[in-house]
Amino acid sequence: MATEIRTAEERRKAIQSNATSMGIDEVYISELVETFYERVRADSDLGPIFEKVIGDNWDPHLVRMKNFWASVALNAGLYSGKPVPKHQQLSQVTQKHFETWLSLFHQTLKDTAPSPAAVIYFMERAERIANSLQLAMFGLPSLKGATPSR
Ligand code: HEM
Repeated sequence: MATEIRTAEERRKAIQSNATSMGIDEVYISELVETFYERVRADSDLGPIFEKVIGDNWDPHLVRMKNFWASVALNAGLYSGKPVPKHQQLSQVTQKHFETWLSLFHQTLKDTAPSPAAVIYFMERAERIANSLQLAMFGLPSLKGATPSR
């Protein structure tokens, strides 16, 4: 197979047209983020964690999350934050919270996504990012509590 060299702009266009073919655009991302965080706030495990950090200041968080997902899903280049240190500060968060987060996100996608392919597209990315956040926060599970060999 010939190696294809593409400019950043060509790559962005290819990502956007792939996303468009699944019905993903900024309008949908806005709906996804709004619906997801409504459910997060109502969740008895996740709600209090967000409440403590965000309180009543939800608008800037929602804007940030829409920019984040537009950058992840559409390569829009709108987000330039550092999620890892932000999450490392959340000392009460456990791996169980991540399971809850991912299952709420999955359910929100199933209820709102413009196509079945879009559900998979977002879940693959959410799982990959959740894994890297968990690695940064909790370390490698195989190393945690490993019995010393001698
Ligand atoms: C148990 C799971 C999670 C919890 C409890 C959680 C909680 C939070 C909270 C409280 C903030 C606000 C931090 C602050 O403003 O200081 C935040 C920010 C953020 N979260 Fe999460 N999060 C979780 C999982 C995830 C996952 C799986 C993703 C990505 C797929 C994600 C992406 C982000 C991003 C991009 C920000 C904004 C960081 C910034 O630039 O300020 N989070 N999260």
